[in-house]
Amino acid sequence: MKSLVFFFFCLVITTNTSSITNTSIASSLFNTKTKICWYGYWTVFIYNDNISDHISVHVQSGDDDLGNHTLALKDNENWSFCEAITLKTLYYAHFYWNSKTVFFDVFNDDLSSRYCTPWKIFLPRKCVWLVREDGFYLGDDITPFPIGWTKLHDW
Ligand SMILES: *[C@@H]1O[C@H](CO)[C@@H](O)[C@H](O)[C@H]1NC(C)=O
Ligand SMILES: *[C@@H]1O[C@H](CO)[C@@H](O)[C@H](O)[C@H]1NC(C)=O
Ligand SMILES: *[C@@H]1O[C@H](CO)[C@@H](O)[C@H](O)[C@H]1NC(C)=O
Ligand SMILES: *[C@@H]1O[C@H](CO)[C@@H](O)[C@H](O)[C@H]1NC(C)=O
Repeated sequence: MKSLVFFFFCLVITTNTSSITNTSIASSLFNTKTKICWYGYWTVFIYNDNISDHISVHVQSGDDDLGNHTLALKDNENWSFCEAITLKTLYYAHFYWNSKTVFFDVFNDDLSSRYCTPWKIFLPRKCVWLVREDGFYLGDDITPFPIGWTKLHDW
C-alpha cells in the first residue's frame, strides 16, 4: 500500500498534465496497456448504428486531431485518454452525412458525469455515441436500442 501511495505521489510530481500514457511502470504494475490516470481513464466510442450509407466523423480536441474518418454501417471509431484533473478535457466532433453537417462536444465533464460510466477507482470508463438517421444518442455501454440511450442532438 505504501508503495502504491508513493507511486501516485510520483505520478503527481512527474506530470504537469494529468495524463500518464503507457509508462513502463504502469505496464508492469497492471500488466496491461491501459493507461494509468490520476483522475479517470476514458474510452469514447462513436458507432454508426443505423445509417446504411456511410458517415464521416472528425474528432478533435485542443491539442489532438484524430482525423476525418468514414464509418460504414455498424463501424465504430474509439479513442482513449486520461481526463484532466481540472475536468477540462474536451473533445468535439464534426459529423457529415450526405449534405448534412453537425458539430458538438462528444466528451466534456458535464456529458461524461451525466451519461457515461460513473467514477470508481481504477475502473475504466466509457462514453458511447450512437449515430442514427434520427439523431445522436449517448449512453455508457452498448445496449440494445433504445434502452439506456439519451438523444442529445438532431442531424
Ligand atoms: C507502449 O508500450 C508498448 C509495450 O507495452 C510499446 O511497444 C510501445 O512502443 C509503447 N508506446 C509508446 C508511445 O511509448
Ligand atoms: C434506421 O432507423 C430508422 C428509424 O428507426 C429506420 O426507419 C431505418 O430503417 C433504420 N435504418 C437502418 C439501416 O437500420
Ligand atoms: C471530412 O469528410 C467529409 C466527407 O468526405 C467532407 O465533407 C468534409 O469536408 C471533411 N472534413 C474535413 C475537415 O476534411
Ligand atoms: C476500436 O477501434 C479500433 C481501431 O482504431 C478497432 O480495431 C477496435 O475494434 C475498436 N474497438 C471496438 C470495441 O470496437
